[in-house]
Amino acid sequence: MRKVHLIVGARPNFMKMAPLYKEFKKYSDEFSVKLIHTGQHYDERMSKFFFDDLQLPYPDEYLEVGSGTHGKQTARIIERYEDVLLKDMPDLVIVAGDVNSTVACALDAVKLHIPVAHLEAGLRSHAKSMPEEINRIMTDVISDYLLTPSPDADENLLKEGKPKDKIYLVGNIMIDSLIQYKNKAEESKILDEIGISKKDYALITLHRPSNVDNEKGLLTILNAFEEINKDVKLIFPIHPRTRKRIEEFNLEEKVNSMKNLYLVPPAGYYDFLHLQMNAKFILTDSGGIQEESTYFGIPCLTLRPNTERPITIWEGTNQLVKLETDDIIDAAKKIIAGDVKQGKIPKFWDGKTAERIVQIFRNEN
Ligand code: UD1
Repeated sequence: MRKVHLIVGARPNFMKMAPLYKEFKKYSDEFSVKLIHTGQHYDERMSKFFFDDLQLPYPDEYLEVGSGTHGKQTARIIERYEDVLLKDMPDLVIVAGDVNSTVACALDAVKLHIPVAHLEAGLRSHAKSMPEEINRIMTDVISDYLLTPSPDADENLLKEGKPKDKIYLVGNIMIDSLIQYKNKAEESKILDEIGISKKDYALITLHRPSNVDNEKGLLTILNAFEEINKDVKLIFPIHPRTRKRIEEFNLEEKVNSMKNLYLVPPAGYYDFLHLQMNAKFILTDSGGIQEESTYFGIPCLTLRPNTERPITIWEGTNQLVKLETDDIIDAAKKIIAGDVKQGKIPKFWDGKTAERIVQIFRNEN
């Protein structure tokens, strides 16, 4: 029996680990799986709602690290997860994505000579100013299994000198969850609650430090929303980081004065999928939403100078928009006028990624 730890910490991890957890459970005579939650995200709406929607059990270990500076948060995770590892000594640790919990737990495991698998390996924005890029690079350097979502990720890893036999193109695991819960999401009543009809709004998400942590950048974007809002209703489930910054920079009045802007709390998984699939278009700086919108075929304007997920541009409905008020307005107006980018669903975004991953580990025995 091989002991496996699956690490989750922040909101985008939950929908990536849920399918893997369920797949491993099918082989409970071969694997014993534990779900470890670092507690990087702890608000009900950032964590528990997702456990409920994704039908995940209460984690086997909950480390309660909470928020903090990067150094403090990462250090707390390292310290607390090491204790768990020393007690449990699993045979494999699987981490996902690019959050602080990812790199911290990978580092703990590798120092204790426990093999690490990185789910969503090889993605690169090539912008080291983003904390996530550092987390991705570091995690890939120390991982034994590099599980990639798309061929561009394989190429990045090969260019960095990673051995070919460590790289496994498994596909996009987030899409496994999306496919599993699409029907549930269709039934969500969130639009009725907000009081808006399908296709009668654009959906906004915004939380990157580079966009929200400085007043000038945040204003550039809010000014664009103000203008776009004259033509289309906007639904904005607001991330705690962004809410905090709007308060800090005294921008509440500006936000509240936009008549057709519907500011709502962070949505649960089904509700958020519902908001995506029925949007006219999406304005975001998230990583995962670029992918989910590509799957749904909904136009997505990514408010960033780069993306670690270029396949969503090459094959999907995503496009990058320069962080200038006028550029954002122009891109939105084009879509409102009917000039919409068409896309297709990339290979291996088929709901079978968890299956492919578990087979890799089964075949080792
Ligand atoms: C983290 C990830 C980011 C991911 C995002 C998804 C890192 C470096 N960043 O960013 O890649 O896209 O999660 O949401 O790991 N807060 C709450 N409640 C919570 C969690 C956070 O109020 O449950 C507030 C706190 O004020 C905290 C701030 O949000 O200081 C930022 O949280 P943090 O975990 O540091 O990073 P995120 O911005 O959420």
